[in-house]
Amino acid sequence: MKIEYKVNPPITTDEFIEVLKNSTLGERRPIDDMECIKGMVENADIIITATQNDKIVGVARAVTDFHYCCYLSDLAVDKSCQKSGVGKKLIEIVQAQIGEKCKIILLSAPQAVEYYPKIGFFQHQSAWVIKSTDLLK
Ligand SMILES: CC(C)(COP(=O)(O)OP(=O)(O)OC[C@H]1O[C@@H](n2cnc3c(N)ncnc32)[C@H](O)[C@@H]1OP(=O)(O)O)[C@@H](O)C(=O)NCCC(=O)NCCS
Repeated sequence: MKIEYKVNPPITTDEFIEVLKNSTLGERRPIDDMECIKGMVENADIIITATQNDKIVGVARAVTDFHYCCYLSDLAVDKSCQKSGVGKKLIEIVQAQIGEKCKIILLSAPQAVEYYPKIGFFQHQSAWVIKSTDLLK
């Protein structure tokens, strides 16, 4: 299986949606909200793709300042290519794009909670989330 990795290649919203769906992550991403998907693709700071015969079979999408923090929002590998090192390679390429002091932060999907510790992430007990529309108390 020859996989080619690309840093910030052109990627269409349809290609992004397809790899999300083919990985199952599409169930947890707003794939029917084109405005949101377009914003996710256009405003990402880092997009790494894994392609096989010109088909995108893996993607990592991150938002970062490149120096202090890097939010790895989406990591998705096509079901046909999972557990063959693609996810790990995509994260290693993200790491290579950011500064030495920059940490990768993410929120794990339920099916990946055992994945991240396995590849070296440590769990942070103080992660907090609020929507932009939620009122502060
Ligand atoms: C989770 C995901 C990104 C991992 O990518 P991958 O290419 O399949 O995983 P890798 O090949 O890099 O796996 C590295 C190791 O972790 C293991 N692993 C892979 N997925 C795992 C999972 N969900 N849980 C526990 N271990 C997992 C692999 O077996 C491998 O172990 P080994 O080195 O002992 O063989 C991919 O399976 C995926 O897209 N899953 C569905 C969508 C998802 O949950 N994405 C994460 C969003 S936060």
